[in-house]
Order: sequence, then structure tokens, then C-alpha cells
Amino acid sequence: MLTIREATPDDVPALERVKAQGGAGHRDRVTQGFPFRTLLAEDDGDVVGYAFLLFAAPPFWQPRYVPQLVDLQVRPDRRARGVGTALVHASEAAIRAHGAPALYLAVDPDDNPRALALYLRLGYTILDPAPVDEPWSFTDSTGYTHSGVDHVIYLRKDVG
Ligand SMILES: CC(C)(COP(=O)(O)OP(=O)(O)OC[C@H]1O[C@@H](n2cnc3c(N)ncnc32)[C@H](O)[C@@H]1OP(=O)(O)O)[C@@H](O)C(=O)NCCC(=O)NCCS
Repeated sequence: MLTIREATPDDVPALERVKAQGGAGHRDRVTQGFPFRTLLAEDDGDVVGYAFLLFAAPPFWQPRYVPQLVDLQVRPDRRARGVGTALVHASEAAIRAHGAPALYLAVDPDDNPRALALYLRLGYTILDPAPVDEPWSFTDSTGYTHSGVDHVIYLRKDVG
């Protein structure tokens, strides 16, 4: 049975198996707490995916929109079975419980049309169809610097 719960530091190895981050990316998120929150999907105790939520801007990062579903990942062998949908719904419930009116997310429409289709099906609306290049960079607690440039459009859903 699929269940969704808050990730703890003990879950870091399992989160790394869903998507390796290098450095202390997952550990920093789950140990730091607010404004971060990582929801984890388990199928009979097997970690099959996670949703990483940002409730507010942390000091080292100025996201264009908050609260934001920053990272949604389902293990490749468990995709297309509703896990991603369940994680998005749980994310919306968490944002609603926090008292925020809407949840934002970003997707690369050129590289990830299936994810975009999923979000549209789940009721998200596109803010601006022209993709923007978002450079990002942060250094984690081990001194490892994560960086990249995302080519994305933003979507929003009212959850209040
Ligand atoms: C996007 C993702 C989280 C969806 O999770 P999921 O558990 O497969 O989602 P669901 O089963 O609830 O819904 C299936 C739908 O997800 C979308 N999807 C996107 N990428 C997919 C993939 N690689 N495999 C299967 N479905 C995918 C499709 O819309 C699919 O419906 P379709 O089969 O009609 O195309 C998952 O595919 C994933 O982890 N992809 C890699 C990471 C990623 O792209 N994250 C999103 C960044 S914006």
C-alpha cells in the first residue's frame, strides 16, 4: 500500500537511491526543517519517490515563487502508477495546512512534456508560456556546491 510521510535523517540513503544529489543535499533538507519539507512515498516500506517543498525563501536562494514544489521524483521502475500524482496531492495538502493559498512549480516544457502534461491534468495553470533560464547555486553543509541553469516555465494551482 502506498503511504506518504515526512522524511527523516534516517531516510537519506533511500532518498539518495531515488535521486542521488551528491554532497549533503538531501540530509541538509531533512535536518534543517522549515522552510524545507520533504515528503516521501513508500510502498510497503519501500521508498519509491519524494516531493521536496520550499515554504519560504531561504537566506541563500531567492526563488521566483513560493511556496514551491521544487523537486518531484519517482523511482524509474515505479513510474506511471500514480505515485507522482499522490505526492503532488500530498504537497497541496501540506501547503493548504500551512495556510498558503497556492502552490507553484516549474517544469522544462521542452525536455519534460510528460511532466507538464501531468501537472496540467492535475489542475495547474501556466503563468507564462515563454521559458526562462534560471541559474541557481548553493553550497551545502559539506562544502559541496550544487549549481545549474533550469530552463523552465512556472505553473500555479490554488489550494486554499
Ligand atoms: C514526473 C514524475 C514525477 C511523474 O511521476 P509518476 O509516478 O510517473 O506519475 P503518475 O503515475 O502519477 O502519472 C503518470 C504521468 O506522469 C507523467 N510522466 C512524466 N514523466 C514520466 C515518465 N518518465 N514515466 C512515466 N510517466 C511520466 C505523464 O504525464 C504520465 O502520464 P502518461 O503515461 O499519460 O504520459 C516521474 O515521471 C519522474 O520522477 N520523472 C523524473 C523526474 C521529473 O521529471 N520530475 C518532474 C520535474 S518538473
